[in-house]
Amino acid sequence: MKKMHIELTINGKQVETLAEPRELLIHVLRERLGLTGPHIGCETSHCGACTVDLNGKSVKSCTIFAAQANGATITTIEGIAGPDGMHVLQNSFREHHGLQCGFCTPGMITRAWRLLQENPTPTEEDVRFGMAGNLCRCTGYQNIVKAILAAASELNSAKEAAQ
Ligand code: FES
Ligand code: FES
Repeated sequence: MKKMHIELTINGKQVETLAEPRELLIHVLRERLGLTGPHIGCETSHCGACTVDLNGKSVKSCTIFAAQANGATITTIEGIAGPDGMHVLQNSFREHHGLQCGFCTPGMITRAWRLLQENPTPTEEDVRFGMAGNLCRCTGYQNIVKAILAAASELNSAKEAAQ
């Protein structure tokens, strides 16, 4: 099948690749671009393991064709950490035991990263609602919610200290 030329900005870098029209974004990210942070859980838009940030929105990358993302700006879990090390959210998941097997974690953190930009001061209910598209088979969610709330609080304290 004829391949399409696709241009993306991923984690701040411009990349180009070829993909068949049938290829899902998650497959192109993992198999053609080597970004294996976003995981494939269900491939049917239920689990959220494949979540990436696409043009400022959390998107399950198994739900769109790579061709539909042509020209988009994407952040994957590989782009969440800063030059000084892990993002506050990543540290918070570690400190609050927001993971067990870790399979859902890239999607969870990528979604939480956008959630805290949409709502920097979420309540527990806001976090639970905002994370409802991401499933975890291990943790029971309590520690994931705790980790996200703690990260929000730390990010807000840092903002206040900088003012
Ligand atoms: S792999 Fe995309 S939602 Fe499960
Ligand atoms: S930590 Fe295992 S699926 Fe969430």
